Amino acid sequence: MNDTVDYNIPLAYERIKETTEEMQFNMASDLYTGSLLKTLVASKTSGRLLELGTGTGLATAWIVAGMDEKSSLVTIENNEILIEVAKKNINDKRVEFVLADGYEWIKSYAGEKFDFIFADAMPGKYDLFEETINMLNVGGFYIIDDMLPQPNWPAGHDRKVQAFIEQLENRTDLTITKMNWSTGIVMAVKK
Ligand SMILES: C[S@@+](CC[C@H](N)C(=O)[O-])C[C@H]1O[C@@H](n2cnc3c(N)ncnc32)[C@H](O)[C@@H]1O
Repeated sequence: MNDTVDYNIPLAYERIKETTEEMQFNMASDLYTGSLLKTLVASKTSGRLLELGTGTGLATAWIVAGMDEKSSLVTIENNEILIEVAKKNINDKRVEFVLADGYEWIKSYAGEKFDFIFADAMPGKYDLFEETINMLNVGGFYIIDDMLPQPNWPAGHDRKVQAFIEQLENRTDLTITKMNWSTGIVMAVKK
C-alpha cells in the first residue's frame, strides 16, 4: 500500500484549488488532511459539524464530500475574499458559511454542541481551546493539522505548538492520537 490520495477527489476541491493557487493563498490544508476529514465525517450520521477557518474552502469541500443528507456544517472565516471563493464553489444547503471573527463567534455561541470540529484557525486551537472543546459532544472528533514544522510558521511558533501538544496530552477528557503524517495531525475524541 501507499498513501496517495488520487481517487474520489471532490470536484469542488479541484475547482477551489485552481483559484487558491492563483490567489497564492498558502495556508491551505493538504490532500491527506482532506481525505481524513472526509472519512471521519462519514462516521457521523446526521452529524453537526464545525470548521473554524474556512479559507477558500479546500477542507470544506472534503468535509462536505463525507456528509450524509442529514448532516450540517457551520464554517467560520473572517476574510471575506477567501470565504467568497468557498461559497461560490460549494453551493449546498447543508452548509452555513459564516463571515465572522472566530473569537467573537466562539465566545457568543450558545447553540447545540457539535459532533466534529476541524479547528484550523487560531481561535479554537491555540486560543479559546476550552470554550471550543466545550462545544463538542461526547464521542465527537476534534481535529487539528499543521502540527509539524511548516514553511509559513512565524518565529517562535514551534514552542507554541509544543506547549499545545503537551496540553492535549494531559487532558483527561480527551483521548488523542498524534499522527506524524500529512502536515502533522492530532485527532482527539471527547470522552
Ligand atoms: C490555515 S487557514 C485555513 C485553511 C482552510 N481550512 C483550507 O482547507 O484551506 C486559517 C484560516 O483562518 C482564518 N482566520 C484567521 N483568524 C481568524 C479569526 N480570528 N476568525 C476567523 N477566521 C480566522 C484565516 O483567514 C485563514 O483563512
